[in-house]
Amino acid sequence: MPTAPWMFWNGELVRYEDCRLHGFSGVVKYGCAVFEGLRAYWSERERELFVFRLREHLERLAFGLRLLRLEGAPPLAAIAEGIRAMLRRNALREPCHIRVIAYLDGDDELAATGPVGVVAGAVPRASSRFVADGMQLKIASWTRLPEAAMPPRVKATGNYLNNRLAELEAKRDGYDGAVLLTGDGKIAETSGACLFLVRDGCLVTPSVTSDILESITRRTLLELAPEVTGRPAVERAVDRSELWAAEEVFACGTGWEIVPVVSVDRIPIGDGRPGPLTRRLQEAYFAIVRGDRPERRGWLTPVWAS
Ligand SMILES: Cc1ncc(COP(=O)(O)O)c(C=O)c1O
Repeated sequence: MPTAPWMFWNGELVRYEDCRLHGFSGVVKYGCAVFEGLRAYWSERERELFVFRLREHLERLAFGLRLLRLEGAPPLAAIAEGIRAMLRRNALREPCHIRVIAYLDGDDELAATGPVGVVAGAVPRASSRFVADGMQLKIASWTRLPEAAMPPRVKATGNYLNNRLAELEAKRDGYDGAVLLTGDGKIAETSGACLFLVRDGCLVTPSVTSDILESITRRTLLELAPEVTGRPAVERAVDRSELWAAEEVFACGTGWEIVPVVSVDRIPIGDGRPGPLTRRLQEAYFAIVRGDRPERRGWLTPVWAS
């Protein structure tokens, strides 16, 4: 599905084909940008499109800008309004994926801190088949980039060269995606999502000091864990062999949503099928994002309501 025809670009709505950058802009020369992937969900009952956790995504974008020392981006409220206006202009009344990129523009040297451009666009996108069927992952031979080299906790464009290499390797080898380990062999995350394990009925996930992206879906599930599983989730360092000791494993992220992991390196997880707790979390998550849980309406931003 191609990107919807209208984009939000530096304060204006422009057509997709008019959204162009110079070949020598900072982002092209140095890969210097931060981005967000968001999802919006259509509620047929309310005839409304809801962006999930828009504020948290934009706050992470701002944190990323601060870490990359990029200055002069527009206020978050203006970006939020631009995204809503872009979705309305595209008349999107279906589930979609939204990408926002704040990038180094201009043609300056490596230590330039601006000017910063902001662009956002959307593409209609339903859930992948993996949400229902589960995924087969491989442990990548590439390790996750370490905090000592680049900050993995922010969604910096340059970081994704690491994820891309792992993903290419996994797909070439016939898997659906990759698990990346930290330099000392602990579990970090997948090429595009964080990981949770179920051990003795309890959710366990690598801590934010395990070279992971500070995922918003992960945070959402940490909050939901007590009400869905009856116990708080545990954040800690996770060993590679725990993947196979676990009753269930799943990946979570805005784009991936909640995906059961049914095998790693062709070794089945649990009985090799999506597990019951993963299914319960999926149910809770999808009810929330579609606006069916009044107590979580604060996580949703309506697009059409004024
Ligand atoms: C490497 C990586 N980890 C984790 C995630 C999940 O993050 P979030 O839940 O904020 O989408 C993503 C997706 O954006 C990702 O690219």
